[in-house]
Amino acid sequence: MKRIIDSESGTEDTLIESSIRPLSIEEYIGQSEVKDNIKVFIDAALIRDEALDHVLLYGPPGLGKTTLAMIIANELHKNIKTASGPAIEKPGDLAAILSTLEPGDVLFIDEIHRIPRHIEEILYPAMEDFTLDIVIGSDSGARSIKIDLPPFTLVGATTRAGDLTSPLRDRFGIVCKLKYYTNEELQMIVERTSRVLDMPIESDAAMSLATRSRGTPRIANRLFKRVRDFALVSGASKIDLETSENALNRLKVDTFGLDEIDHQYLRSLIEKFNGGPVGVETLASSIGEEVTTLLDVCEPFLLQHGFIKRTQRGRVATQKSYKHLGINYQENLFL
Ligand SMILES: Nc1ncnc2c1ncn2[C@@H]1O[C@H](COP(=O)(O)OP(=O)(O)O)[C@@H](O)[C@H]1O
Ligand SMILES: [Mg+2]
Repeated sequence: MKRIIDSESGTEDTLIESSIRPLSIEEYIGQSEVKDNIKVFIDAALIRDEALDHVLLYGPPGLGKTTLAMIIANELHKNIKTASGPAIEKPGDLAAILSTLEPGDVLFIDEIHRIPRHIEEILYPAMEDFTLDIVIGSDSGARSIKIDLPPFTLVGATTRAGDLTSPLRDRFGIVCKLKYYTNEELQMIVERTSRVLDMPIESDAAMSLATRSRGTPRIANRLFKRVRDFALVSGASKIDLETSENALNRLKVDTFGLDEIDHQYLRSLIEKFNGGPVGVETLASSIGEEVTTLLDVCEPFLLQHGFIKRTQRGRVATQKSYKHLGINYQENLFL
């Protein structure tokens, strides 16, 4: 099911997508701790005229990992080559990318936790000593060769830092966790997007959009685009609070930013499983969703805002969930 607040980047509007992506660290809103640190490391690398240390960015989808990787390359005045963990299937795929790098370049690997283990091992000497150890030929003709690589910066992004093997994690000198954005930061992001796309929005409307974006810039931008469609069709030249609230209600995004899947999740947890505890796999199959969608997209936000709890025996709905769905709360004797 396609969700309006789906955090994975889809195929839509790639042109718009690239126009609203901030290109410099100044334009990147929020994440001040991460930004301040990265800026110091970039400046130091520039002064020393060395490649920046390898950077690991982790956090839920849509929080700005890809954007930050591109900004790092821009600020270093270097090229960025991008790859994605699941697309690297053979050692040769990785070797091919590594061998195109020029000194100081940034290699961005998205979903780095999904690189197969035997290929990941090629990264260790590449990251540590800038050498590529590969085996060519097969059987009796097989031999291993070593190729020197130029110094480069690997920027890895993952939604699951816990799924990274420790040899890989240990090779990143800079590890940054991206956090959910505050409503004020999201409001600024919406207002920035509104300027870039040349569709004015009133500040209370931008705030209402922000509060329904579950702390995530990608969702804020996506909601903005949909609300803009509603405004265009109704002939409005500016998005006001009424236009945006109407549009958001029609998109079935509630005032907390919970969408239909979150509602199904909570309803199932409460009505079918009596509020839990229940395992995430069982919940996923009861609502026909992928376990990874629940783990990466739904649960981090529901947990952060106290709608659910994770216990050893499974997920449990909190009183806040019952209240939010308007269901009578009964003390759960199992807790
Ligand atoms: N700090 C930020 N300031 C402004 N816009 C942002 C910021 N972070 C992300 N965005 C916007 O949100 C969208 C998703 O960001 P992206 O970097 O693709 O997320 P991720 O790679 O973590 O899934 C992009 O369109 C980008 O323009
Ligand atoms: Mg990304």
